[in-house]
Amino acid sequence: MATKIKVRPQKVSDAKSFFEILNNDNFRYFGARPKTIKEEIAFLKKNPRWRKQNFAYNFSILLGKELVGGCGIHINQHRLHIGEIGYFVDESYWGKGIATQAVSFLETLGFGKLKLKRIEILMEPKNKASEKVAVKNGYKKEGLMKKVVFSKRAKDYRDCYLYAKVK
Ligand SMILES: CC(C)(COP(=O)(O)OP(=O)(O)OC[C@H]1O[C@@H](n2cnc3c(N)ncnc32)[C@H](O)[C@@H]1OP(=O)(O)O)[C@@H](O)C(=O)NCCC(=O)NCCS
Repeated sequence: MATKIKVRPQKVSDAKSFFEILNNDNFRYFGARPKTIKEEIAFLKKNPRWRKQNFAYNFSILLGKELVGGCGIHINQHRLHIGEIGYFVDESYWGKGIATQAVSFLETLGFGKLKLKRIEILMEPKNKASEKVAVKNGYKKEGLMKKVVFSKRAKDYRDCYLYAKVK
C-alpha cells in the first residue's frame, strides 16, 4: 500500500527544499536544476501569475509535513484543451508510489476543473521510472517525439516517448 501524499500549491518558502531535491546527479533526465536558491525563489514567484494566465499549475508534494517532491500541469498555449504533466520526487522517497499518486491528482484537476480533453506525459526512453508512472496511471504510448526537449545537461535536443490519455 503506497504512502498517502498531500498536494498543495507551491510556496516561495519551498525554495530551499526544491533546490536540495533538484540538485541531484541521479536526476539524469530532468531539465530543471536551479543553480542557486535565489534562482529557485524567482521561479516560485512566477507561479501565481502562471495560474492566472492559465499557463501552469504547479504543486508541492508532501508526506506529513515534509516536502518530498513537485508536480504540475502546463497548458498548451496553442491548443488550450491539452495539458502536459511533469513530476519529480526526492530520491530518498523513490519507489513508494508518490509520483503515481501525484499524476492521479493532476489528472483529476486536468480533466475536471481545467476541462482538458487530452493530457500528455513525455519522458526520455531511458527514464524507465517515469515511463512506469505513466503506464501505472493508464496512459497510452503514442510514439517517439524526435528532438522535442532541449537538455541543458547534454547540451543537445533529446527524443521523448509521448504518453497520453484523452477524455
Ligand atoms: C520519475 C520519478 C518521479 C518517479 O517517482 P516515484 O515516486 O519513485 O514513482 P513511483 O514509485 O510512483 O513509481 C515508479 C515505478 O518505476 C519503477 N522503476 C524505478 N526505476 C526503474 C527502472 N530503472 N526500470 C523499470 N522500472 C523502474 C518502480 O519500481 C515503480 O514501479 P512499481 O510501483 O511497479 O514498483 C522519480 O524517479 C524522479 O523524481 N526522477 C527524477 C526526475 C524525473 O525524471 N522526473 C520525470 C521527468 S519525465
